[in-house]
Amino acid sequence: MKLWGGRFTKPTNELVDEYASSIRFDQKLAKYDVKGSLAHVAMLKKCDIISADDADQITAGLKKVLSKIEAGEAELSETDEDIHMNVERLLIEEIGQVGGKLHTGRSRNDQVALDMRLYVREAVSELIVLLKSVQQALIGQAKTNIDVIMPGYTHLQRAQPVLFAHHMMAYVFMFQRDVERLEDSLKRVNKSPLGSGALAGTTFPVDREFVAQELDFDGICDNSLDAVSDRDFVVEFLSNGSLIGTHLSRLCEELVQWSSAEFHFIELDDSYTTGSSMMPQKKNPDVAELVRGKTGRLYGNLISMLTTLKGLPLAYNKDMQEDKEGMFDSHETLKGVLQLFAGMIESMEVDKESMYKAVTNDYSNATDLADYLVNKGLTFRESHAVVGQVVLNCIQADVYLLDLSLEEFQQYSAVIEEDIFEALQPETVVNARAAAGGTAKQSVLAQIDKAEKLLESSDADKV
Ligand code: ARG
Repeated sequence: MKLWGGRFTKPTNELVDEYASSIRFDQKLAKYDVKGSLAHVAMLKKCDIISADDADQITAGLKKVLSKIEAGEAELSETDEDIHMNVERLLIEEIGQVGGKLHTGRSRNDQVALDMRLYVREAVSELIVLLKSVQQALIGQAKTNIDVIMPGYTHLQRAQPVLFAHHMMAYVFMFQRDVERLEDSLKRVNKSPLGSGALAGTTFPVDREFVAQELDFDGICDNSLDAVSDRDFVVEFLSNGSLIGTHLSRLCEELVQWSSAEFHFIELDDSYTTGSSMMPQKKNPDVAELVRGKTGRLYGNLISMLTTLKGLPLAYNKDMQEDKEGMFDSHETLKGVLQLFAGMIESMEVDKESMYKAVTNDYSNATDLADYLVNKGLTFRESHAVVGQVVLNCIQADVYLLDLSLEEFQQYSAVIEEDIFEALQPETVVNARAAAGGTAKQSVLAQIDKAEKLLESSDADKV
């Protein structure tokens, strides 16, 4: 008979058992479920809701149940619907009817909310650590290649030269926002719903704060109806995960482009690429492509969770069981991606010459010619028009700005002097952008310094 079978005169249809049960996937929650139950039973004992002897038996029994589940020795059954009822049944099998006292003052509704919060809390902390390893790898590339100049793009057209390190640091700060968003989300994740009962609270004299402290929560959920219906923390995780996916995907798109023969800016290490079954010459950036591709499922999980929640009346509804698979999938997807990512970045080789060639065989110093003329007294509009003419003529003659002689420059504007050749060198162009956040070496070194301090300080917070 089912744990809730008393009110029923017929068994559940077998298909319904299979359809409604969640044990296939929520067995992942076993360790959190038992952890929550251990805190709950400690509270029942402390508040004299059950006897110390009963509580001690339950505590010992729960520990045995968990080790059996973890060793794969416990039989989890679909008839018991979910992890909560499976654990309770296993407990009763282990210690007898006294196990039936565990659920005093508790409902599966506050229990599952608790389990999910414990799961999300751990997942968030895990992702923060992994994101930091990616940031470190990007900083490592920035430092190793601090003098490498590459074309910076807008509209995927070569725009102005930048330091490759500057480009790497753009992603470091992007991922820093992800880390901060995850850290911030912990404020909302880390509240205990236990003691909210099914929806209205409990008649037993429970001590919710005690349970919260036992489980390292920062406090309790303030309203029992909200506590059992709230899955905002899952949405936030999926949303933060989606944005992490967006960022990783943008970087992967660049890695895919840069490793093509057309760009040849980088070479991904053999250990992070794959071959073609037909074309022997190929080396495919599969890992980067898959990371880009997996972003789709991260978005999918977010949209499906939002959609599941949007029409739900308070308080708990069975629809909410749908929070789990997407949450687990996004967590595992991100974990898988991030575990690989730092290694892929660290092992990538930068083709300095190719990047430099792309900068010099181009007109990406045109803005600097315009700025030069402004410094010699032209308005920016006048100078823009002059430089437009210079570039157009150069394109027609198939030469670059630095191929022109001083006399040729002076045909466009008499104010141009010998120092123009120095002013248009890629190094000068880059280092001229020395304002904070710009691409000059000094500015990029300051960015690296700041990012390293940010990484250290948030590590220190954790200790
Ligand atoms: N398996 C359920 C879930 O994941 C647990 C809560 C069930 N509560 C209930 N009253 N049916 O949401």
